[in-house]
Amino acid sequence: MSARPDSSQQVRKKITVRSLLEKKQAGEKIVCLTAYDASFARVLDQADVDVVLVGDSLGMVVQGHETTLPVTVDDMLYHAQMVGKGLSHSLMIVDMPFLSYTSIDAALENAGCFMKEAGAQMVKLEGGAEQAEIVSALVQHGIPVCAHLGLQPQKVHKLGGYRVQGREAKAAEAMLEEAGILEEAGADLIVLECVPSELAEIISRALTIPVIGIGASVACDGQILVLYDILGLSMGRVPKFSHDFLAETGSIEGAVSAYVDAVKSGKFPGEDHVFS
Ligand code: KIV
Repeated sequence: MSARPDSSQQVRKKITVRSLLEKKQAGEKIVCLTAYDASFARVLDQADVDVVLVGDSLGMVVQGHETTLPVTVDDMLYHAQMVGKGLSHSLMIVDMPFLSYTSIDAALENAGCFMKEAGAQMVKLEGGAEQAEIVSALVQHGIPVCAHLGLQPQKVHKLGGYRVQGREAKAAEAMLEEAGILEEAGADLIVLECVPSELAEIISRALTIPVIGIGASVACDGQILVLYDILGLSMGRVPKFSHDFLAETGSIEGAVSAYVDAVKSGKFPGEDHVFS
């Protein structure tokens, strides 16, 4: 007798760039989390997390550095290859690490390596209008791009710390404009990190592409957190925008499912997790 796939496997289609856009259009929240290895990736995949980001946050939460700056392309490739092995449903995004996209050639080579050697479906890079040319070149070569505005951890030294961005009117206007420029350049997704909730809502409504918040607004089209933060493994200070879902569920699978439910139902982020 041949083994039959269970019913959940029959209905679960692979998430694509197009399905993310359809979710925004349908008003369905997009659930995203980071992962850095195959075992956790499998847990996320089975819990119906839409997007798994191999974040350069691994420099801090896995490698123990103070910032994400020491992370290399080889580090990202190593972790992305492991994460890819755990995924059959979720879409995998791989972060372009610090200084790996300073020219079109470098961006194409490094992003291409994540696509070809790890099966990435999208890459993420930090920055605003100054990255429009790079975004456009990647997209023209068939590499989907997630942009990242607001707090950009790769600029931590320039910013003078991990601070909320876009509080002053001029900075808020500039961020809205830059989001539009990145969409125009071909970005398929935008992460907004540590942005006042009102501004995050305005940007989410203004763009056609999905906007994913972290410390942004419940009105964003989706949410992302660092996996270790929702499992109560934050190093040092727990970020205001995060929540320990393991504390109330008692298991890793329970914590991930509780996060998925909270994002889908619009219960997360609450007032305590966003900035004004
Ligand atoms: O590196 C990362 O994990 C990220 C998310 C926090 C958005 O960029």
